Amino acid sequence: MSDTVSFHVHGAIAEAVVDNPPVNTTSASVRQGLAEAIRKAEADPAIRALVIRCAGKTFIAGADIKEFGKPIAEPHLPTLLEMMDRAAKPIVAALHGTVLGGGFEVALAAHYRIALPDTRFGFPEVKLGVVPGAGGTQRTARLAGLETTIKLTTEGGQINAAKARASGLIDAIAEEGDLAAAALAYAEKLVAQGQGPRSAGSLPMPADDPALFEEARKTLSRKMRGQTAPLKILDAIRLGYEMDFDAALVQELALCRESIAGPQSKALRHMFAAEREVARIPGLPADTATRPVDRVGVIGLGAMGRGIVMAMVSAGVPVIAVGLDQGHVDAAMKAITKMWSSSVAKGSMTQEAMDKRLALITISTDPRDLTAANLVIEAVTENLDVKKAVFATLGQVTRPGTILASNTSFLNIDTLADASGRPEDVCGMHFFNPAHVMRLLENVRAAKTDPEVVATIMALGKRIAKLPVLSGVCDGFIVNRMLSKRSREAFFLVEEGASPAVVDKVLLSYGFPMGPFALGDLAGLDVQAAARKARAATATERELRADFVEQMVGEGRLGQKSGSGWYSYDENRKASPNPQTDAMIAAHAERHGLTLREIGKEEIQQRLLYAMVNEGAKLLSEGIAPRPQEIDVAMVNGLGWPSYTGGPMFWADQIGLDKVLATIERFRAEQGDAYWTPAPLLVQYAAEGRGFYA
Ligand code: COA
Repeated sequence: MSDTVSFHVHGAIAEAVVDNPPVNTTSASVRQGLAEAIRKAEADPAIRALVIRCAGKTFIAGADIKEFGKPIAEPHLPTLLEMMDRAAKPIVAALHGTVLGGGFEVALAAHYRIALPDTRFGFPEVKLGVVPGAGGTQRTARLAGLETTIKLTTEGGQINAAKARASGLIDAIAEEGDLAAAALAYAEKLVAQGQGPRSAGSLPMPADDPALFEEARKTLSRKMRGQTAPLKILDAIRLGYEMDFDAALVQELALCRESIAGPQSKALRHMFAAEREVARIPGLPADTATRPVDRVGVIGLGAMGRGIVMAMVSAGVPVIAVGLDQGHVDAAMKAITKMWSSSVAKGSMTQEAMDKRLALITISTDPRDLTAANLVIEAVTENLDVKKAVFATLGQVTRPGTILASNTSFLNIDTLADASGRPEDVCGMHFFNPAHVMRLLENVRAAKTDPEVVATIMALGKRIAKLPVLSGVCDGFIVNRMLSKRSREAFFLVEEGASPAVVDKVLLSYGFPMGPFALGDLAGLDVQAAARKARAATATERELRADFVEQMVGEGRLGQKSGSGWYSYDENRKASPNPQTDAMIAAHAERHGLTLREIGKEEIQQRLLYAMVNEGAKLLSEGIAPRPQEIDVAMVNGLGWPSYTGGPMFWADQIGLDKVLATIERFRAEQGDAYWTPAPLLVQYAAEGRGFYA
């Protein structure tokens, strides 16, 4: 049929088998092969039905994302699916693995669907900023009703085979095992029963309450704020009520094309590729050996240590959890048990799963017990001397070859590596708070880290369902170093006259989940004050002068936890303006003789975001971030930089680095070299007319 589709005949049943690794996307040769298979099955009077299935680990997992936005060879997917719709002989889709996007659309255009029990189904297009374009919204609505359709297509989640069967999206669940045989038997039975073709397009739209659209619009505007695709998808579903099936397909495809051409989809597709690219490390061959990790030690059981323990055992990795003394260990276990118990109470976890996780934790107060681990993560208090002492101990008590990782956020890992006496085994594994929830993991390669150690921690990150990104050693690594420049600029803006609430609002409307001041209140102003203190020796006079955080902590205002910070909080932690903050800013200005001015939104946004872009360029030229992909992936997943802008480096490329540089030069003239000297790499790329991405 084609390079990727083979055709077989078993008595009266023909079978088209797609084999297009890794995930059987609907690339040109698959579409051509399937079209040919349908023609052949239709033309042969001896053939009574056609089964479409896939070789390898999954049924078609979607259209080929790399083809998006490019000229596409005939037949296009909608044309192929129209052929399926109109076929005179029944077509059965035999499903396994992840039936996603365009793959789900192929399955829905078949007349009957049978799946293995562990098959998963979904429309992830929304995560790529795209409206399904081959009948996904139309056929799903007709088969499963509005509620399921809205949920599947606008949220991009997956459902299992049982749910798909209950919703009417598939007809049968095969027994675990030989899907090919089950599908053939199913097709033979259809033929024997005289069942003919059956197109989802011939069904009426569901008689569901149209109020569902309005409800969904409201929820999506809140939950997926700033994103254009979810609302466009609602428009696409609604087409089914406004015109006939064929006309709706044409309009749906137009919305799909429009979405693919838009900036959000371009950015989201960039993120999809970047998230996979960061797993491949320049200079580290893919076949680099990894060290076995069958038991992880965690030393230090504060909030971070506990979160790391939870992340490990949730992924089935046994943990030896070492606390300072019995009191710390007990408190940690109590906190962990409490969190999981509340998940069990809410029904998001079973008691059995919780018990299984707890059974994987061995507790101890003696670091010598870590000899049973082959990787130890240090999460003790953020103090260099304390951490140095821990690494010296770990160097002695653990077996040679045991990987020693620090969860420090800004201390020098090379210093800790030297303290251990085994620097080649030492690295950073910087989790984000809460560590069992946040997906980003900054893995840090220190000066002497063995390549095997790097390969091992990248693999471990993936194994525990994190998104590991490699960083070099510097103060704050990628995310916190870039964030520190934003915080500095935010304090300066307030000193110059911008209100914290307006600054927060600017970032909120850019797409961040919260602004810098709301974030400070959430994280705790005492934490921020401690970080400022640790950096005071290298801070400028102006940075020291912008001591709002210290002033608030001095008054016992610690943010959300004390009910007062930049904002005031009620008992439900709902924020309202805080008059004390206004008074503090006014007094600060008077004390230091500062003149406050009105600052426009554009300047606020540019100063906060370009400060990070400029720092990102420095990270690249210093080799701390191997590539712009690491920065974009880390900032989107660690700081909530909106994914639909593609992350700071991609976003700056879209603006044009010459324009970004010109603005930075203006800020430099106004604010001084200390804060706005452009990164040499930015200057170079702007002169060359290129972006961070070549
Ligand atoms: N188009 C092009 N390439 C794709 C792809 C797609 N739709 N889906 C996956 N791939 C590629 C990945 O880029 C990766 O390539 P690489 O090894 O060169 O990096 C490879 O297939 C394996 O994907 P990966 O995500 O690493 O494997 P996985 O087993 O963890 O997950 C999927 C498999 C299919 C669940 C996951 O890749 C996925 O969700 N893909 C997107 C599906 C999608 O959005 N479809 C809708 C498009 S209409």
